[in-house]
Amino acid sequence: MTSARKTYIIANWKMNFTPGEASLYLHRLQDRIDHIPRDMQIILAPSVISLQSLSLQINRRQFKLAAQNFNQNDYGAYTGEVSVTQLRGFVDYAICGHSERRYKFHETDKEIGEKVAAAIRNGLTPILCIGETAIERRNHETASSIYSQLAGGLHYVSEEDISKVIIAYEPVWAISSNKGARPANPGDIKEASDLIRKHISKIYGKDTAEEISILYGGSVNKDTAGGYLSIPGIDGLLIGNASLIADSFCAIVETAKGKINER
Ligand code: 13P
Repeated sequence: MTSARKTYIIANWKMNFTPGEASLYLHRLQDRIDHIPRDMQIILAPSVISLQSLSLQINRRQFKLAAQNFNQNDYGAYTGEVSVTQLRGFVDYAICGHSERRYKFHETDKEIGEKVAAAIRNGLTPILCIGETAIERRNHETASSIYSQLAGGLHYVSEEDISKVIIAYEPVWAISSNKGARPANPGDIKEASDLIRKHISKIYGKDTAEEISILYGGSVNKDTAGGYLSIPGIDGLLIGNASLIADSFCAIVETAKGKINER
């Protein structure tokens, strides 16, 4: 990892916690985690219903909030949707193209590209999630899947704005809630992050490819976090299930701090 790249530890709570439960969790977290190194960023991605109240409670110097999803249009007749324009006072980051959005809600690469553009247009940092399915992996289509998701997700991102994007590699077959999930091994993750940097290098140049942050997500827990953070080219973790328990999320944060201190 180059010294310029931060370590990101992100909790994706998915559709869990009421606003009261989310507030209690944050209270516990802020109590437990006192010092956060400057080159580390902890981000919580709660359900949209909790964003406003957490944004008032959160110590923004220590923690940031992310939206799990949003509509790519800034305003208009989109019943039931929330735009990034409406969210931007509450969050600094926005997850785009999570595989659960792609496969459960049929979001296309084009829509995901528009969401990445909407986040940048509204001053938020997009966290673009990409990753192949089990079938794609079995059919040796990992590289083409990664390339097409990157090409679609970054379609509207200029050379000037690419440094604002974070990429999260989350192979769908490694996400704990998916049937038959198994954790990815370090070799698979290294190969994927190399492919991502290669593709970024082709479009935006070598320096940009070196600078962009790539995170890993999929069945990370407190026992495996350290190993994943040791993979060259991996700059942090996007955590689902294990982030729902404050104790295990705090343990992952401590592990990440230890890794930073080792540098
Ligand atoms: P798990 O950590 O539960 O596998 O979820 C990963 C994920 O989807 C984070 O966005």
